[in-house]
Amino acid sequence: MRVLVGGGTGFIGKVLAQLLRGRGHEVTLVSRQPGPGRITWDELAASGLPECDAAVNLAGENILNPLRRWNEAFQKEVLSSRLETTQMLAKAIMKAPQPPQAWVLVTGVGVVLGRGGGAISHMLLPFRLGLGGPIGSGHQFFPWIHIGDLAGILTHALEANHVQGVLNGVAPASATNAEFAQALGTALGRPALIPLPSTVVQAVFGRERAIMLLEGQKVIPRRTLATGYQYAFPELGPALKEVVS
Ligand SMILES: NC(=O)c1ccc[n+]([C@@H]2O[C@H](COP(=O)([O-])OP(=O)(O)OC[C@H]3O[C@@H](n4cnc5c(N)ncnc54)[C@H](OP(=O)(O)O)[C@@H]3O)[C@@H](O)[C@H]2O)c1
Repeated sequence: MRVLVGGGTGFIGKVLAQLLRGRGHEVTLVSRQPGPGRITWDELAASGLPECDAAVNLAGENILNPLRRWNEAFQKEVLSSRLETTQMLAKAIMKAPQPPQAWVLVTGVGVVLGRGGGAISHMLLPFRLGLGGPIGSGHQFFPWIHIGDLAGILTHALEANHVQGVLNGVAPASATNAEFAQALGTALGRPALIPLPSTVVQAVFGRERAIMLLEGQKVIPRRTLATGYQYAFPELGPALKEVVS
């Protein structure tokens, strides 16, 4: 299969592209920057969709970037980076003489656990120093997924004809934030008892964005399991051990 991956240069995209190539698929990325194996968004808009059987969009400004203030300009960037790239892909698909058979968008997934990126890359230093712990009360749910499983679910959705509709990209074993902190401490062999107060989270991320970390949701991947996807990391402990090893 020839797969086009918007935002495929990122944390999840790199792992997805590697998995797809390993399974014999041909992958072309869409990026803001030109480079080998990619086209730019401008090229996509100007020249149309390259021949492909499936398209995925992962492009988007990182909403939890702790280095960016949650002001109007950043909020617009977060939104437009997703909407504009999705619109560009949708337009190109509509104009294509042979549109792809599969089209996957990634929006609501759990915190993605993988090496060298994502939210966990910001947590590792304090936890390694023994300064980690639950965020806020720690009672909020903290949906998570191992990056290999997110790439696996996306690949499964592309390869299996029967997979349609919305799939929750989370692991089946739900955890509260306190349980997550405990499991990360155990994986690192460090205590994880120092809570991060809500006021600090609100000061760093802004009150509105802090809600994402302070008020979690319990998410169950019922449809994902029903499609026959088999998780490599259904449980939190082994997933974290693999990431920090
Ligand atoms: N990582 C997670 O824990 C997590 C959790 C839930 C949902 N997600 C969602 O999954 C998707 C992929 O996540 P990720 O962690 O792989 O993201 P990422 O590495 O932060 O970014 C993916 C790619 O998006 C492109 N991008 C960044 N800012 C952009 C902008 N302003 N305009 C256009 N393109 C931009 C970049 O590609 P170029 O520089 O090549 O253009 C980047 O490589 C995102 O939509 C994210 O919201 C991720």
